[in-house]
Amino acid sequence: MNPRITPITEANRAGWNSIAGRREGRPLEQFRAGAVGLEDFERELAGDVRGRRVLQLACSFGDEVLSWANLGARAIGVDISDVAIEHARRRAAEAGIDADFRRADMFDLPADLVDLDLIHLSWGAICWVPDLAVFAGIVAGRLRPGGSVLLCDHHPAWEVLAVRGDNQLAVAGDYFGREQHRATTDDAKLPIGANGESPLRAFVWPVSDVVMALINVGLELEAFFEAPAPQLYAGLGAAADALPACYVIKATAP
Ligand SMILES: C[S@@+](CC[C@H](N)C(=O)[O-])C[C@H]1O[C@@H](n2cnc3c(N)ncnc32)[C@H](O)[C@@H]1O
Repeated sequence: MNPRITPITEANRAGWNSIAGRREGRPLEQFRAGAVGLEDFERELAGDVRGRRVLQLACSFGDEVLSWANLGARAIGVDISDVAIEHARRRAAEAGIDADFRRADMFDLPADLVDLDLIHLSWGAICWVPDLAVFAGIVAGRLRPGGSVLLCDHHPAWEVLAVRGDNQLAVAGDYFGREQHRATTDDAKLPIGANGESPLRAFVWPVSDVVMALINVGLELEAFFEAPAPQLYAGLGAAADALPACYVIKATAP
């Protein structure tokens, strides 16, 4: 086994295999008709992807990869879960979309995935990374000069804050947890398909660590913002507008 793949990663692979079959994407007829299930800011930051090589890491059942393909990209998705990748391949075939799905750990990517124009990670991806410096080095090593990484993920503040009622929050985790992986106990954060219990261990990386890891491998920061998403703090009331729920980074190889 690649020494960079930890026992935690392998345990998460087994956990995701048990969950992935219960996860469903957008109806396929929508993709057949050209649907794009990406946020407007993701599309804007990515720019024109026609003919570009776009890789999504931790792609799950592949909806975002199918979306990049519908925008004209040569789209590739990597996921550690065998079940998720089978699912994604079946969905692409049924939608009639040309997309390339590979089963791999993002720390052990297939050798041909180089010279990429864009590497995309989103909504529950960075929390599976056991070592940020290694991760940033892998991403930088796979981009072509001028290629970018676009990371759009849940804010670590959201990861550690648990809603207890109207305008009431509890600190249920360590914002500076870093390598200390932990099981998700807050129902609001369980992945879809987990059925009330998660066999997964996730990492909480402070936003500043993620930014600095990318800068430290020579990538140039092009965009960085945090944003609220009140629906992620269900039950908190109006205070949810005052909290960060997600963050977005675009960094580009010189
Ligand atoms: C919450 S989903 C990703 C979110 C995806 N963008 C979506 O919206 O569906 C998390 C995915 O990460 C994958 N994953 C976890 N650890 C991974 C790793 N080390 N390498 C690649 N994929 C991984 C899981 O198998 C799972 O499909």
